[in-house]
Amino acid sequence: MLERSALAENALQALHDEDYDRPFNTQSLNHETMIFTGGRRGISLDGDWNFCVDLLDTGLRQKWFSMLPMPAEERAEPWDYDPYEGETVPVPSCWQMLKEKWYFFEGSAWYTRPLDMDGELAGDLAGKRRFLRVGAAQYDCKVFLNGEFLGNHYGGSTPFFCELTDHLRPGRNWLMLMVNNARTLDRVPMRNTDWFNYGGVYREVELYETPETVIRDLFVHLVPDGSYARIRAEVTVDGDASEAVLEIPELGIRQAVALDADGRGAVTFAALPDLWSPDNPKLYDVALTAGEDRVEDRVGFRQVERAGDEIRLNGKELFLRGISVHEDDRDTGKVTSEADLRRRFEHARALNCNYLRLAHYPHHEMAARLADELGFLLWEEIPVYWAVAFDNPATYRDARNQLIELVKRDRNRASVVIWSVGNENPDTDARLAFMKGLADTAKEFDPTRLTSAACLVNHARNRIEDRLAEHIDVIGINEYYGWYEENFEDLVAIGRNSDPGKPVVISETGADGAIGEGAPARGLFSETYMTEVYRRQIATLRGLSYVKGMSPWILYDFRVERRQNIFQRGYNKKGLIAADKTTVKEAFDVLASYYAERREAEAAGEGDA
Ligand code: GCU
Repeated sequence: MLERSALAENALQALHDEDYDRPFNTQSLNHETMIFTGGRRGISLDGDWNFCVDLLDTGLRQKWFSMLPMPAEERAEPWDYDPYEGETVPVPSCWQMLKEKWYFFEGSAWYTRPLDMDGELAGDLAGKRRFLRVGAAQYDCKVFLNGEFLGNHYGGSTPFFCELTDHLRPGRNWLMLMVNNARTLDRVPMRNTDWFNYGGVYREVELYETPETVIRDLFVHLVPDGSYARIRAEVTVDGDASEAVLEIPELGIRQAVALDADGRGAVTFAALPDLWSPDNPKLYDVALTAGEDRVEDRVGFRQVERAGDEIRLNGKELFLRGISVHEDDRDTGKVTSEADLRRRFEHARALNCNYLRLAHYPHHEMAARLADELGFLLWEEIPVYWAVAFDNPATYRDARNQLIELVKRDRNRASVVIWSVGNENPDTDARLAFMKGLADTAKEFDPTRLTSAACLVNHARNRIEDRLAEHIDVIGINEYYGWYEENFEDLVAIGRNSDPGKPVVISETGADGAIGEGAPARGLFSETYMTEVYRRQIATLRGLSYVKGMSPWILYDFRVERRQNIFQRGYNKKGLIAADKTTVKEAFDVLASYYAERREAEAAGEGDA
């Protein structure tokens, strides 16, 4: 029988062994290390990378990242993985979609590729800075270069940057990313979600070269003071510059921006831009120079505001005719493409939408760029979903960073009008403090947009009521009367009982509708039943004057582990279109007709339809 001290020693040692991640979890790659990339030519690092799954984090425990490349026969010690040889995967990709054996794999995986500073990356390193940009990696991504840990990023849907400047050497370098998609108690989201837990480096990877002085941030927008006649630019420059110059040629603007000792500056000036709107998606070329650096963007100028229980765009009341979308594809998982996004917007146009809810996490930045060009309004969201560790400061730090990264990435996008700080979170004191902090953070980094969250009806009091409502501009409500809540009459009563005093957007409603072989002809999970739910929802909601928008759940059927009945088979079937993104269900036309009616009524100036 081991002595007690020996037992304690063993236990401590075991714990110590499990502490291997700590030195590699600095989360030092965050919103503060972002640079502005608009107008820059990045060198693509997409393509085949060496790859290995690593369920037990053996790579960290054995320090695979410190192993230097050498021919197998020259090695002095047996390696459990050779980062420089073996299997490869394409980047971007989700490993679950590549091989059956990885479909449900959750854990760490290693990506390795060379960076040859003689080839396409050649050029004098002196006087230049080099930044790695990863569009997104689900969830924790640790960066190693030539065996050195350079930092890690938390958050599965926002871009991050790692400066390589002082770590690159002439000739061949080796870049390693260790990506971990495990669902844990302290992450955002936590362990239980209703969407598939993809993993991997699933958006583009690029290398940017900049001058010594680099423009880290540019936020340019119409001043939301109702004058529609003033533009403000906020700039952050890292380096030896006392001034930046902003240009908007089409408006005849060339404006100096004085920079303080921290490289920050702001300027407000008179301008009369043609206002952006879904019906007039006017964009202006904007350029900013500071020292030798130059960035560009294409920006729409418009004002969105809340006035009482109205949402207004450029002073005119607005009804958000929307649909919710996940970032999910039957064949590619979370990897999206311009063609996939254009198809999404074409389907939204066919629904007579002017608005989409990008649920439940930041989508690819291309979505907002296309929405700017095509004329759609967007709700963007961070994945504070259901229960997260609301009382854990580390979790709050993670959520807050993901939010600021999203805001900094997309706040020049006219299409984005709402920042959502969460979805269906239980109403506790800890949750209220957590979500209020996030809503305040969104306003701190962007006072020009509305804040919201997808809340739940207060069933105890049978009304729309949530303590968070006091701290957000628009109250999102997810309600599923006719599906999860059986009695439709309750929705009517709630409608009558509620007086939110703020605009309400029905951020989710809907029902599953299976189609094709084995689908039921009637009853739950039948297309017929789904259509009937849409009819009754619309008939009820159209009568509620404080409902200023809808984004029914959801445009496409989507993959999710927890949906396994005979009609779902690993998919949530609430899509108006099947997972093939082609087969349209009956309910599509019911919603499209309602939105067409609303659009015509608004065009005729008749207000509510
Ligand atoms: C929830 C949740 C969604 C989920 C949907 C459903 O409200 O917000 O993420 O997919 O309802 O149950 O289908």
